[in-house]
Amino acid sequence: MKYVVTGVAGFIGSHLLENLLKEGHEVVGLDNFSTGHRHNIAPFLDDFEFVEGDIRDLETCHRVCKNADYVLHQAALGSVPRSVADPIASHDNNASGTLNMLVAGRDADVSGFVFAASSSAYGDTPTLPKVETMPMRPMSPYAITKAMGEYYLNVFGTLYQMNTVGVRYFNIFGPRQDPNGMYAAVIPKFVDILMGGSVPVIDGDGEQTRDFTFVANAVSANLLAAKNAEQARGEVVNIACGNRISINKLYNDIAGHLDITKPAKYGPKRAGDVRDSLADISKAKRLINYEPLVNDAEGLKITVEWFKKQFEESKK
Ligand SMILES: NC(=O)c1ccc[n+]([C@@H]2O[C@H](COP(=O)([O-])OP(=O)(O)OC[C@H]3O[C@@H](n4cnc5c(N)ncnc54)[C@H](O)[C@@H]3O)[C@@H](O)[C@H]2O)c1
Repeated sequence: MKYVVTGVAGFIGSHLLENLLKEGHEVVGLDNFSTGHRHNIAPFLDDFEFVEGDIRDLETCHRVCKNADYVLHQAALGSVPRSVADPIASHDNNASGTLNMLVAGRDADVSGFVFAASSSAYGDTPTLPKVETMPMRPMSPYAITKAMGEYYLNVFGTLYQMNTVGVRYFNIFGPRQDPNGMYAAVIPKFVDILMGGSVPVIDGDGEQTRDFTFVANAVSANLLAAKNAEQARGEVVNIACGNRISINKLYNDIAGHLDITKPAKYGPKRAGDVRDSLADISKAKRLINYEPLVNDAEGLKITVEWFKKQFEESKK
């Protein structure tokens, strides 16, 4: 089968690439390196077609989708704070870029189109766990762009009988997630800061909770969504472990894996952030046969070990 992976040089995209190649599929990967890195795809460059280009350019989207069976659309500008700082860039890349990819996928008559949606679309509703039947209440420009992508997917399913599926990720983490920059995700950031000998700052009181999900689960969800895209047409499913932990516990677990006993520092709460997040994953189980493969504790151990190895190699 021929798969298109957008955002292939990113964290999740590069794991999808690695997995698809292992399974013997043909892959066309697209990335503009805005937040992704060449080193994420360097080991695979001989084994797939890489297109350095932008999903904001419709012609490029058409080019990569030609003769494709499936599209796994991951490219986007992630991060809530980034979108608060620059909502227009988030809109252009995430909402308009997704529309371009949908049009290209439709014109190429692909069998399945999977979209990296986000749990941020739920917003700050107090009800837990989050179920897909709840109305979306985006609280940031980023969440709006992801909600918009879902609406487009649903409409393309109805209008053009396109097999579109949204996978609503809940805090994906794992090896290769970028620890650098002001918009880094919490797990790689904490690990990196602790390994460097400093102490990270926790936003707010640290009692906010997240359903942290190891990247192997997101990879499996994409492949299952593509395979079951016809029966899941126009639908969105939560992808998570169905378990939540606080940022304080996360900090202690990471520090524990690194044998560090220093307490964390605390700063102000971040604008646009939701307080608690926990997924009901029964729809994903039912519709695409999703089951979490690796739990958060196991995933965290693998991730910290990976970063430790990278850190030690960088010092050689
Ligand atoms: N990591 C998470 O916890 C999480 C949670 C919810 C949703 N998501 C979504 O999953 C997807 C992948 O996230 P990630 O964590 O791997 O992020 P990432 O930043 O590592 O990967 C995104 C990739 O998309 C590329 N990209 C961005 N804009 C582009 C454009 N206009 N044209 C071509 N390429 C472009 C980037 O260069 C990068 O390689 C994103 O759509 C993100 O919104 C991620």
